[in-house]
This record gives sequence, C-alpha cells and structure tokens, in this order.
Amino acid sequence: MTEILLTEKLLHLRNDHVSYVIGILEGGVPAHLYFGKRLEGMNPASLLRHYDLRADGAWQPHNCALDHTPHEYPSHGLGDLREGALTVRAADGTRSADLRFVSAEVVEGKPGIPGLPATFGDNGRTLLVHLKDECIGLEATLSYTLFDDVAGVVRHASLRNVSGSDLVIERAYSLCLEMPDSRYDLITLSGAWSREREMFRRPLVMGEQGVSSLKGATSLHASNMLFLCRPETTEAQGEAIGAALVYSGNFKASVHVDPARNCRVFLGLNDVDFSWTLNPGATFDTPEAVTVYSDAGLDGMSAQFHRVCAEHLVRGKYAKAPRPILLNNWEATYFGFNEEKLLKIARTAADVGVELFVLDDGWFGKRDDDTTSLGDWFVDTAKLPNGMKHLTDQVHAMGLKFGLWFEPEMVSPKSKLYEAHPDWAIHIPGREPVQQRQQLTLDMSREDVQDYVYDCVARHLREDGIDYVKWDMNRNFSNIGSALLPAERQKELPHRYMLGLYRVLERLVNEFPEVLFESCSSGGGRFDMGMLYYMPQTWTSDNTDALCRCQIQYSTSLVFPPFAMGSHVSAVPNHQTGRITPIETRGNVAMSGCFGYELDLNTLSADDLEKVRQQIARVKKLRQTLLYGDFHRLLSPYEGNDTAWITVSPDKCEAVFMLTRALAKSGTYPPLVRLRGLDAEKVYTVAETGESYTGSELMNLGLCVRLPWGDAASVSLTLTARAE
Ligand code: DGJ
Repeated sequence: MTEILLTEKLLHLRNDHVSYVIGILEGGVPAHLYFGKRLEGMNPASLLRHYDLRADGAWQPHNCALDHTPHEYPSHGLGDLREGALTVRAADGTRSADLRFVSAEVVEGKPGIPGLPATFGDNGRTLLVHLKDECIGLEATLSYTLFDDVAGVVRHASLRNVSGSDLVIERAYSLCLEMPDSRYDLITLSGAWSREREMFRRPLVMGEQGVSSLKGATSLHASNMLFLCRPETTEAQGEAIGAALVYSGNFKASVHVDPARNCRVFLGLNDVDFSWTLNPGATFDTPEAVTVYSDAGLDGMSAQFHRVCAEHLVRGKYAKAPRPILLNNWEATYFGFNEEKLLKIARTAADVGVELFVLDDGWFGKRDDDTTSLGDWFVDTAKLPNGMKHLTDQVHAMGLKFGLWFEPEMVSPKSKLYEAHPDWAIHIPGREPVQQRQQLTLDMSREDVQDYVYDCVARHLREDGIDYVKWDMNRNFSNIGSALLPAERQKELPHRYMLGLYRVLERLVNEFPEVLFESCSSGGGRFDMGMLYYMPQTWTSDNTDALCRCQIQYSTSLVFPPFAMGSHVSAVPNHQTGRITPIETRGNVAMSGCFGYELDLNTLSADDLEKVRQQIARVKKLRQTLLYGDFHRLLSPYEGNDTAWITVSPDKCEAVFMLTRALAKSGTYPPLVRLRGLDAEKVYTVAETGESYTGSELMNLGLCVRLPWGDAASVSLTLTARAE
C-alpha cells in the first residue's frame, strides 16, 4: 500500500517494496536522499554528513556545498557546477535556473500527461512537488508516483513560464537520480539492424558514460533505458536499479561519476536537437521515466518492469487477451505477390491453425520494390485487381483475421504524395535531401500531415475489414528542418514530431479499439515504452534466426515481457544469417513471445508442416502462460553456449521451460538448469518425460535436460502442478 509521509523537511514516499525520500534543505533546495528498499524510518544525518552537508538541525548547504548536494532536479551554473537536469534560457540570455521548494501535495492515483504516453493506475499515489525560481519566473512541478504493486517510482517534470517574457528550455531531463556511491556496473543495450539490443555491461568510471539517440527514434542503435547493478549482481541475486523512458524519440541516458565517487543518473530528451520556447503562461511536460529497484538480481528487476508494462502501460482489448497466431507474407514473397499467391499461403495457414494473415509491404501505389509509393496508400490493382476488401473477405471466409502493413510516417520521392506536397517532408531548403531506403520522413509536427496520415490508415480500417496493423518506420531523421516552424523553433521539431505521431496513434487506437496494432521499425528500432502505450506488441527484430533471437529476446526481456515481443518462425536457410536450424528450435524460441510465422508454409516438407500444426496447437493451449506468465531468464547466451528461460503462470501451476544450445559439443554432460519462479511445495510433472519433481528440487538442484543431437538443438517442456 503506497503512503506518502510529509514533514516540513522530509517527503517520504513508500510502498511495501521501496522508499523514495526527498529532503528540503535550508533555502528550499530539494535534495535527493534515497531510493531503494523500503525504509521504516528516515534520519538523514549520516547521508548529509556523507555529502558534507550540515544536518544538525540546520540541514544546510555551506560554502559551495550545492556542488556536493544530491539534488532532485538540478541546474548547472549556480552553486552546483556539475551537469544538471535542467537548462533554461531567460529573456536576458542567461541560462541558470534555481528551483526552490514551494509546497507539496498528494493526489490519489496517477494523473496523465497531456499528449504523451504515460503509465496509469488507481492503485497508487502521486506526490506533486511544486518548485519556483523567483528570479526568472519559472515554476516546476515534479511528479512522483508509486503504484502499490511496483518496486519503483514513475516521474516526470512540468515546467511553467510565470514570467512576462519567453523562456527557452534548452534541457529538461525526465529523471535525475543521485546515488551516494558508484560501485556499480552499468548495463546498456546497443545494436544495429538485425542485432538489436546487445547487452553491454561495464563498471562505472569517473566521468560521463551512457547511450543516446539523435535519430528521431529510440533507434536500432541504442535503447532508451539503463541499468545499474552491483559488480556481484547476477540474474538471481544482488541489487539492481533500472530506468526506462516512456518515449520513442531522441533521448539521452547517462551516468556521471563525480570526484567523490557519487553518481548522478540522467534520462530524458536529448538536448542536442531540442529546445522549447515557453511563452508566458505556457507549460511544458517532459516524458515520463520509470525507475525500478530490486535486491533479487537482474531477473528481479525485470519482474518490476514487466509488471509496469502489463498493469500500468498497455491498454485496450489486447492488453491481457490471447494474441492471434499470425502468418506474415514478408519473407514468403517480399514484393512479389498477387491475390492468388496470397490466398494460397493463407489457405495453408488457416488449415494448420494460424489465426491471422498479415499482408506486409508492397500492396499500394506501384510498389514493386522499395524505391516508390510510400504515402500513396491506395491499393495496387495490378497486384490486387479486386481491391483490398475482396481479399480480406476471402481471408475472413477462411476463418482468419486480416492484418495490413503501413509505413505511414514516410514518403517516397517517387510518389503522388511527394509530387503534391514536397514541403510535407522533413527537409532543409536548398540542401539535397539525404535519402535512406529511397524515402523521406514526413513532418509529423504539422497538423495537415497528421490528418493525412490518420485519414490514410483510418480509411482502410473503416472500409476493408482490417483486424491488425503493422505500423512500420524505416528511416531515421536527417536534413532536420520543418517548413512551418519559425527559425527559433526549428530545434523543437524532433519532439513536436513525436507529439504529432502520438496524437495520430491516440486517435486511431481510440477509434478502432478492436484492431490489434504492432509497432515496427526496421525490426526493433523503436522498441520502447512509449510505443507500447499505443501498440501492445512490437516486432522484435528482422532477424528471425533462432540463435540470434535467443540473444535479442533475452536482452529485450530486461524491460519487456513476452507479450510485447513479436517473434516468428521463418524459413531456412535463414534470410538474415543463412543458418539452418531445426523447426523445433525456431518454434521453441518464437513461442516465448507473440507467436507467428514468416514464411510460405506450402514450401515445407509434410513432416515439418505437421510439426507446425503441433506447435500451433501447443501454443494455443499454453499461450496465456507464455504471454502473461512470470518470465525468468535462466542461462544467458551472453555468457555461454546455452540460453534458457521459463515462464510461470501466476498461480504457479503451469510453466513452460525452454533451453537452446547454440553449438553441439562432444564430451559434455547434459546441463542441470536451476529453474525459478515455481512454488517450492508443489509437485510438477514434466509433460514430455512424465517425470515429477517438487518445485524446491527444480529450483535448488535443477532439471537435467537432454538436448537433441546437433547444433541449434532445443527443448521446450511443459510443467504442470495440481492447483490446491
Ligand atoms: C521492415 C520490417 O521490419 C519488415 O518486417 C518488413 O515489414 C519490411 N520493413 C517491409 O518493408
């Protein structure tokens, strides 16, 4: 149960799991005193002594002590000389803000943030801390929410101009978290196309370290989150703190270690391509940041993030519903399809139990390759002479739902849309547009563009019986300029783009609550909590090779639960790596997510097709557990040859265990894997072997698993226990 204890100098938020404590120092300086495991009381004397601050009743920064103070929302350039979370340019051109405490108030539940994705929920309380800089006329409200069921805090800042002139926000991070020591390893996720979210772990060093994006999206190259854990922390034990941004555009995630070995963590909008002119009376909201704490290892930290995603972020009909097993035609046909070919693929899919047929890129304009037609969202009658509705009717008649691919934020220079509206693309007048994948990005900061994008998608959803949308986005920002924004507001474009996109998505998900949306960006290039608020699943990677997917899904699960990850079985040799893996392995890895196929099932042998039929039947039986159970990582592909994980139903009566070995090795014993998340008292029967073990045996001694012969060998086992 969340409680917020307010005294004159201490603001203490706590629930059964964590405490977050803010101190109000002499002069109203809001200091960060604590975030971690729940505290029963809070005497800040030791901590203030650590920071060389007087705690003897005065709670006083002395000399240049602001430079030693752990701040809640610091600005650089007055007493604190370190990097700050906030930079505001005043009318006279000076750039130092100094926010002092005014008042605090508690509200029940969690208020939303206008225009931005945000967590929600009634089972919590929010502390609003009101601050003011009298000198420049800036007010700020720092908002902190604790949900009863999460060991973490959700926060953002709201800035208001109460002066008579414009203020320019040059930096406004969402999160500043100070910690009184730096004996941590930093983990970040970075990658590239088809190898998203590789996990990098290294000890903190003095100075600045972190990841960022200026690409107009979270990007394939870095994820908008970071994790700090003790050097001795493992998956199963030790302290870990994670922070993730509920946003999908440019970001910065960094940790600064100061000479006294304190560390300051920042997460928020990247300030390189950002500034925001705040007119008198106007308000600016930062995106929201989620910070979680665990003393039960990285796996424990992920459990907190997964709960945030499941209970406080994902909305709509599919938030907790079984996700349809889909077949996507992309790798089956690429651009080379016609109605007959698609129906043949769909018929076999329906026959083996697939529930949703997805038509990917290439159905509109004159799009026979990736050089044209983005923006012209009209059916290509050369490929589909009878129109889209005719196709969807036939697919529906087979008992399948129908899904359609869009890349609505883009325009091809070779398109009717670009001919009519060249200024709708993000561009710099007088400069040759830099193209990526022969396409340009539409200026989503413009209302006319937002309305066009909305209309194009909405028209098909209204008229064609579409049950699912794959919302793709395949290029990053360049030539960053907007035809409508005045010179002094050009740096607002990247954030305005995101606000425009969120506006369109909000309209669509509200108007079409029955439609399942899946986010995609050249694979998993925009896999973030912002997109998850609108679309309950994200295409994890274009790399569908089972061994690569072990790594990608393993590290994606640091924050995201299985129901967020689109994962498909594709053809062999794999189109990204050329590797041949058994159909069982491809199925076992893919079923720990939103399961589907990315191939023409007609090309499979009768034997493999039968295995597909069995996979689908099994996933249908187990999918509530697979998607919504508690997911635990057991063996890391980053540390060895084996990947293992387990998903356990909330009542702990059903679990699905997966083990995949990359390379076969002779002369080794079959691995004994310690499971997690089971009920120690229950007796579990392994369906595939008929053996029974207690939960305590499985978690302490482990389960010995014999893998099939050969490389990329894998097993997936179903464990069931009797309900009490
Ligand atoms: C990139 C996506 O990640 C793929 O799955 C596919 O939809 C292509 N775009 C289509 O162009």
